[in-house]
Amino acid sequence: MAILVTGGAGYIGSHTVIELQNAGYEVVVVDNLVNSSKKSLQRVEQITGKPVPFYQVDILDADALNAIFEKEEIDSCIHFAGLKAVGESVQKPWEYYYNNISGTLVLLDVMRKHHVKNIIFSSSATVYGSPAFVPITEECPKGEITNPYGQTKGMLEQMLIDIQKADPEWNVILLRYFNPIGAHKSGMIGENPNGTPNNLMPYITQVAVGKLKQLGIFGNDYDTHDGTGVRDYIHVVDLAVGHVKALKKIKEKAGLCLYNLGTGQGYSVLDIVKNFEEASGVSIPYEMKPRRAGDIATCYADPSKAFKELGWKAERGIREMCEDSWRWQSKNPNGYEE
Ligand code: NAD
Ligand code: UFG
Repeated sequence: MAILVTGGAGYIGSHTVIELQNAGYEVVVVDNLVNSSKKSLQRVEQITGKPVPFYQVDILDADALNAIFEKEEIDSCIHFAGLKAVGESVQKPWEYYYNNISGTLVLLDVMRKHHVKNIIFSSSATVYGSPAFVPITEECPKGEITNPYGQTKGMLEQMLIDIQKADPEWNVILLRYFNPIGAHKSGMIGENPNGTPNNLMPYITQVAVGKLKQLGIFGNDYDTHDGTGVRDYIHVVDLAVGHVKALKKIKEKAGLCLYNLGTGQGYSVLDIVKNFEEASGVSIPYEMKPRRAGDIATCYADPSKAFKELGWKAERGIREMCEDSWRWQSKNPNGYEE
């Protein structure tokens, strides 16, 4: 039996495919490559020494998905496929709702027609909005979500909850990721954003490699230890391992489960700059800029539920995250492009 990994050519998906193969799972990847490259999967094959069956298919294409379910023996799905750029989602809400919501509805319909009712879904800490308290436990109420991308995560969570309630044969695990950074130790795969990065770490690594002039720090007047925003950065390999643990749980008839995947430790933007400089030996010029719309001061997880119920905790510290992000970027200044 195989695990269907939608969006498996992307940043988190490709790292997860490695951990799944290392744990002995068969995988089948579906990705339309709208935000990724086939090269990531070729590199995964080099790293694991195992073939990665790949279908370049859009999850909106029900016929193509059906054909895959008929051909492959799939028993569970890890669903990463989706558009994820916060700013772009404000400009193109229709595209985000259509791709993320309709795409998931098509996938779920094809799954149930083939009696495959195990799904792990990539959600986000963004659903907590400006969190009612930190560290954020899963009990923390969902907050006001300020952009269409985040709305799709909140809506998809609710849809999956309702579907599982109506049909308890479904096993649904919702994983709320905090801020994934870092890359596989080999430096062969990593985050490869299109155009100018929106997120902090890829921006820093592109400054370090000389592609961007300097980092803009969005706000130094937050109520945090140095005034800059605090986040829970988590190594992408730890996050990937979290999916392997969730898969074990789902196979024990999980019902509905929800977990935060974070480290429990918050770092400010300036902490990240300093750690990155120490890890890489490259200095990062920066200037202070006004706050970015929609940003919050502080966001970090209480990850103890995932430890209790999945036996998972993040193992890699901030220094290792910075070293690994830098290895990937310095070996691949243009990402997967030659
Ligand atoms: P990514 O863009 O690297 O990966 C997503 C993949 O999905 C891409 O390879 C893309 O080509 C594919 N895809 C998009 N729409 C598709 C469609 N209609 N059909 C088939 N494939 C499609 O992003 P990522 O950082 O690896 O994120 C993976 C998932 O985790 C996403 O759902 C994202 O929203 C979620 N997430 C990411 C973060 C983060 O900071 N990276 C945080 C929280 C949640
Ligand atoms: N930041 C800068 N300069 C930059 C980029 C970011 O100062 O050029 C700051 C932000 O203001 C924030 C911190 O760095 O304080 C982190 O910003 P990111 O954009 O890297 O991450 P966010 O926490 O804003 O959001 C990310 C994803 C969301 C996801 C959320 C929680 O982009 O999709 O983490 O998982 F929902």
